[in-house]
Amino acid sequence: MKEIFERRSVRRYLDAPVTAQEEELLLRAAMQAPSAGNEQPWHFIVVRERETLLEISRTQQYATMLATAPMAVIVLGDEEVQRFRPHDFWVQDCSAALQNLLIEAEHLGLGAVWLGVWPIAERAQNLRRIFGFPETVQPLGIVSIGRPDGHPDPVDRFLPERVHEEKW
Ligand SMILES: Cc1cc2nc3c(=O)[nH]c(=O)nc-3n(C[C@H](O)[C@H](O)[C@H](O)COP(=O)(O)O)c2cc1C
Repeated sequence: MKEIFERRSVRRYLDAPVTAQEEELLLRAAMQAPSAGNEQPWHFIVVRERETLLEISRTQQYATMLATAPMAVIVLGDEEVQRFRPHDFWVQDCSAALQNLLIEAEHLGLGAVWLGVWPIAERAQNLRRIFGFPETVQPLGIVSIGRPDGHPDPVDRFLPERVHEEKW
């Protein structure tokens, strides 16, 4: 699957919107992810309002690209739907969903970057203040998305020494 090998973080965008059809494909891809016990504990907040994107970019470190991104998707996990508490499987479930979204963005010719939130409490609180989700819902990360203004070259990260055959 070439999208896995060609995907890179894209932090510069053209002044052009992500369409509603593309948005639905991104979210459909995210929700196809595997999850522990098939609990699908994810929620997604789609943000297009410039003022809101600017507020996140001003208040979260390393998120300045949101000031010019046409869209962001915040991926959140709902602890309440987890039967396997306190194992925190929502983190893995939501990470799989977020990665699916990144690969679908590459497939659609969009540019995206994962902005980490969990486990930084200050970043989670900041988003809770802006969006008002409950204490039992945790933000995993933000995806900044747009039409790419350039795309970094693919890189080969295969490290044979990290592969252990049969034993460490
Ligand atoms: C958990 C996580 C958190 C990240 N947080 C940020 C971030 O806050 N800001 C940012 O610009 N990139 C962030 N990134 C993107 C990484 O910097 C990027 O994936 C890494 O440098 C590899 O480059 P590539 O995505 O182009 O292959 C994050 C990636 C992950 C997986």
